[in-house]
Amino acid sequence: MVNQELSMLIGLISDTHDHVSNINKAVSLFRTKNTELVLHAGDYCSPFTIPLFKGLELKGIFGNNDGDKYLLISKFREIGAEIAGDFLNLQIHGLKIALYHGTYAEITASLCESGRYDVVITGHTHEMVQEHIGETLWINPGTANGFDGKATVALFDTETRSVEFVDLEDVDV
Ligand code: NI
Repeated sequence: MVNQELSMLIGLISDTHDHVSNINKAVSLFRTKNTELVLHAGDYCSPFTIPLFKGLELKGIFGNNDGDKYLLISKFREIGAEIAGDFLNLQIHGLKIALYHGTYAEITASLCESGRYDVVITGHTHEMVQEHIGETLWINPGTANGFDGKATVALFDTETRSVEFVDLEDVDV
């Protein structure tokens, strides 16, 4: 028997803003890639889209457009996922990771410049970012909604610390 290869991939997604078909594409991609964890940087908007993430190891935080916090919390619980509030700080494979929506650019900059995290993940601006600030890697997966531009998510490899952006247009469900 062949041992199943240990996944070192974290799926990164943000600003889904109720886009059901793109969420389905992202979930399909994360399943195919066998991500061990998916981090959502907020702005789900309506709680009804949360069940679409069922089966993934999902952790999230609130965005500025996530008004129905109690229902979001309960939808996350229903699928065995966790929504941490406005900020999540986690440690995985020895990496310290911060997850923040990015509502305040000043807070994003402070997190990136603090030197406390190996990786800072934000969303909100709907623009892809992969930038080194000192020893810290700042990643924004872009928006999975797409709005008038590209709909993207990202895959982060915890071993190589590399980021791959994926255009959801290229993903089959
Ligand atoms: Ni936002």
